[in-house]
Order: sequence, then C-alpha cells, then structure tokens
Amino acid sequence: MHTNAPRKVIYDTDPGVDDAMALYYALAHAGVDVVGITTTFGNVTVEQAATNALYLTAIAGFEVPVTQGVAKPWVKPGEAPPDFIHGADGLGNLPSRLATHNVLDPRSSAQYIVDMARAHPGEITLVAVGPLGNLATALKLAPELPTLLREVILMGGTVVEPGNVSPVAEANIWNDPHAADLVFCADWKLTMVGLDVTHQVILPVTLFEKIARHQQHVATDTLLHAVKFYANFYSDLYPHVAKIHGCFGHDVLAFIYLTNPELFELESGRMRVAVDGLAQGQTMLRRKRIDYPQAGWESDDALTHACMQVDAHGASRVLEETLMSDWLPR
Ligand code: BDR
Ligand code: CA
Repeated sequence: MHTNAPRKVIYDTDPGVDDAMALYYALAHAGVDVVGITTTFGNVTVEQAATNALYLTAIAGFEVPVTQGVAKPWVKPGEAPPDFIHGADGLGNLPSRLATHNVLDPRSSAQYIVDMARAHPGEITLVAVGPLGNLATALKLAPELPTLLREVILMGGTVVEPGNVSPVAEANIWNDPHAADLVFCADWKLTMVGLDVTHQVILPVTLFEKIARHQQHVATDTLLHAVKFYANFYSDLYPHVAKIHGCFGHDVLAFIYLTNPELFELESGRMRVAVDGLAQGQTMLRRKRIDYPQAGWESDDALTHACMQVDAHGASRVLEETLMSDWLPR
C-alpha cells in the first residue's frame, strides 16, 4: 500500500541544462524526495556529469548522494558530447564556480541503484533522463530489479514526433540503443516521456529570469545562465521556439509526469529499439494488437506507457509554481 508521503526517487542524469532544470524542480517539489543521483555520460562526460550533479545540489544547499556511472555506450563507440547544446561544461559555460565540498559516493551508479532498491523494496521510483546504461547494468547485476523498484519513468524516445538526432531517433536512446532496448524489454512499470510531449512545452527564458529575480539565489542564477545558452541553441533551430526565445524542458517533463500525471495522455504497448542501421535509436511502439509474424514482436508482456499528449499550459504552470516556491534553504 502506498501513502501520500513524498515519492522516493533515484535521479539518473547527465547534467545538462534541462537535467539541471529537472533536478531543481524535483528538489523544490514537496511530493518528491530525491534520495540519490546517479550519473551517466551523455550531454557531457560522466566525470563532468557527476561534478555538475554535486555542484548543483551543493549550491542549492542540499546534500544528496551522487554516484558516477557508465562512461560510454554498451556496444557502439562513444562520441564527443554536444557542447553546442549544453556548453562544454554542461551548464552553458559558467564563467566561474563557487568552491563546494560535496563528495562522490564511491559506488558505481548501477551498484547504488541495486543497493537502494534492495534496501527499500517497492518504494523507489527511478527517473532516468540520459542514456540508459546505468539502468541496463543494474538489470544485469540484479535481474530481479523490476520487482524491487516501484516504477521507472524515463525521458527519451519518440513515437510519432520526428527525432532530434535523426528523423526517427531521440538523443538519449540513440546514445545507447542496446541499453535502451534492454530497459524497454524488462518487466517493470515503465513510462516513456519522449519528444511527443517534450516538444509540446516551450519554456521562455523570461520564466527563468522571473524565478531568478524572485529567489535571488546562486542556484537559480546558475540555472538562468545555463538556460540562456541552451535557449540560443533551440531558438536557432526552431523558428516557433525563437518567437518566444525559449527552449524545450525535456527532462523536467519526466518529473512533471511523476507529480502531475493527470496532465498527460498515454498509449501503451510493447516498445522495442532499433539497435543499428539507418534507424538506430528509433523507439518502435506496437500500437495495434495484431499478431505480427516478425521476430521480436511475439508477446505484449513488457508494456511501455508512452506519453503522447500533454497539457502544455498546465505543465508550465506547475513548473513555475514549484520553482517560485520557498524551497531554497537560506
Ligand atoms: C534529451 O537529450 C539531452 O540533450 C537532454 O538532456 C534530454 O535528456 C533530449 O533529447
Ligand atoms: Ca538529459
């Protein structure tokens, strides 16, 4: 039986500007208890991701265990991080950083996930917003993991919206398609928050200016700096985003789904990932209950719940309310 106590979350992330936005949303929200942060390569190297997770929590006045995880994809060769989207440091090239003292938990991210899931069976929700190597490694370490976690919510993939690294692939899945396919085939409650919904929510820079003015805090100033850099990238790419000088909130939508599922419409079915070839990284949802004769589509056992529509105004409203609340220790 679940109570209304805050949801215990392990946040698996590659910060990353929208990862930082999502982290602050989660720390600010009374309904979420971030019990640990596991990091992966993706927007930056895994070392930089861990450094950023430690830094973002420290400057906001929180102490949360942070682990360092996988440094490269499961099978395919790794690539240079996209510094043109998130900056070389993942936070929009911060001009300087404060001295902070938080240190890494020495365990690997996968081991940490397994240890925490075993210590709190049925209680932990895994919110994953980067490539899925940590989760796939944790599954290898503990095949019973799906029975130990409460649920998995991931930002990644797309069903009908065009991809952002190829016509069919979203970046997190494309970065490690083999790991992603393992995750989609495991038998847990899995919700995918992909581009189908994250491209529906455009967040203007002015929102983060308003939050920074209101909070007057190094954490929200840092987020504003990062968002400005990231919004320039998105505004150069999409004319409708440029109109309001904004950006997509991608990763924060995974937490908004956790706190406000009523804002989303979902479709459920078996999900598989194309692991190589021209469609590498494509997330394919079995949308019709036909008995497809092709290998790989035999059973509907492991279902994915894919977010297809979101109330964009509602999502922006809860983001604003949460980050404007009194969450930063003074
Ligand atoms: C995803 O890729 C990364 O750039 C973002 O942080 C997000 O997790 C969007 O495709
Ligand atoms: Ca991310």
